[in-house]
Amino acid sequence: MPGWNRRRLLKTALGLPVVFRGLPRLRGAEPGPIGGLVELDLEAKQQWLDVAGGNAYLYAFNGQVPGPIVEARPGDRIRIRFRNGLSEPTNLHYHGLHIPPTGNADNSFLMIPPGESLTYEFTLPANHPAGTFWYHPHLHQSAARQVSRGLAGLFLVRGELDAIPEIASAQEYSLVLQDFDLDSRGVPREPNMMQRMQGREGDLITMNGLSSPAIPIRKDGQIRLRLLNASSSRFYRLRIEEHTFHQIASDGGALPVPLELAELLLVPGERAEVIVEGSRAPDTYRLVNLPYNRGGMGMMGGGRLPVDTLATLVYEGKAEQSVRLPERLAPVETLPPPAAVRTFVLGQGMGMGMMGGGMNFTINGRTFRADRVDTRVRLGSVEDWEFVNPATMDHPMHIHTNPFQVVNRDGSAGPAWKDVVLVRAGSRVRVRTRFQDFTGKAMYHCHILDHEDLGMMGVVEIVE
Ligand code: C2O
Ligand code: CU
Ligand code: CU
Repeated sequence: MPGWNRRRLLKTALGLPVVFRGLPRLRGAEPGPIGGLVELDLEAKQQWLDVAGGNAYLYAFNGQVPGPIVEARPGDRIRIRFRNGLSEPTNLHYHGLHIPPTGNADNSFLMIPPGESLTYEFTLPANHPAGTFWYHPHLHQSAARQVSRGLAGLFLVRGELDAIPEIASAQEYSLVLQDFDLDSRGVPREPNMMQRMQGREGDLITMNGLSSPAIPIRKDGQIRLRLLNASSSRFYRLRIEEHTFHQIASDGGALPVPLELAELLLVPGERAEVIVEGSRAPDTYRLVNLPYNRGGMGMMGGGRLPVDTLATLVYEGKAEQSVRLPERLAPVETLPPPAAVRTFVLGQGMGMGMMGGGMNFTINGRTFRADRVDTRVRLGSVEDWEFVNPATMDHPMHIHTNPFQVVNRDGSAGPAWKDVVLVRAGSRVRVRTRFQDFTGKAMYHCHILDHEDLGMMGVVEIVE
């Protein structure tokens, strides 16, 4: 790996590492053991903020980028009094939560005009998995702009996984990855059509709004990282110098057993929880983002891609006792065989003769329409959805409301609940899902949010 030498790069690093800053948490009223109330005010607004040591005129939730962490437990009632302080319409989506896609719950069809408010209200099912979820705006044709300007926050559900003693004893950090494309004054730049088709990326990469913060770890101690890729398009290929990750949870909660990984690819919208062990010589170690080529529109790509330092692991002190990772985490249900198999062909079609226009991003040849149902499914049914990507770019596909399991070559599925799956250029991926508990219309789309805004989204209606 050329240019990836720790000592050399540390020497050329400028200044001291920024000290890790925890994200503010909004817990609302102390929840009871079950059925507590989490109530909070949330406002989206454009304002000047300190991001990565400089000024930036971003879109923020409650004045923060990323937004405050909402924390809840299964069975809790959630009430979010949302105010749109932007000068454009917006809304909220609760990415990964298994809650109704209708009414004032996780309804991405809603539109809140500037200056207006809406109270979102829903109950987390009592059997909702513990995990790392998030909230972000989801207004079609505005999602990429609003999310890439800062609107994203974590929604943590605490439960079973958090109760495992070895996991609970690890120091926990929530890490939100975002990238920004700012001009010299700190104002977000508008991407051109080519950048939108590629999926906009910014060269300012931040973790919790900081540039390369220091994450403390004790020698022989363990830290638990909750990682969220809240970038609208950028992929992160994460690696920690001389350390491995032990993944304990994916998008939709716990894995059955910890999975040791040398590196971790996190595509837009995706989350992972990992344990890192302080097993090396006390020193500093970089958490880096390795190059990843997610394909292009033909004229992009190629060239040398940089290795970015996203954070620095800093050894501080020694743990009183070292804890071994548990052998088991939480069982992941095996879904029954599917009642139906559907195919979704992802398309990037250059409209012939589209003067000055751009490209259509399609699913089964169609661009998104909010007033059309593309797929109708039965409540309670299990289906396999196969995403076919014959094109030249990777598309991370996401389904609302119900998580899924990736189907293996042998036809089995899992063992992990996910809600975003990478469908690489020229490949196909099959996922198995069960449309459970809630009827109504929900969305599925590419989580490169520019692609979603350009039409790569469909509507699934779940009917009795
Ligand atoms: Cu995180 Cu429909 O999206
Ligand atoms: Cu979502
Ligand atoms: Cu895409």
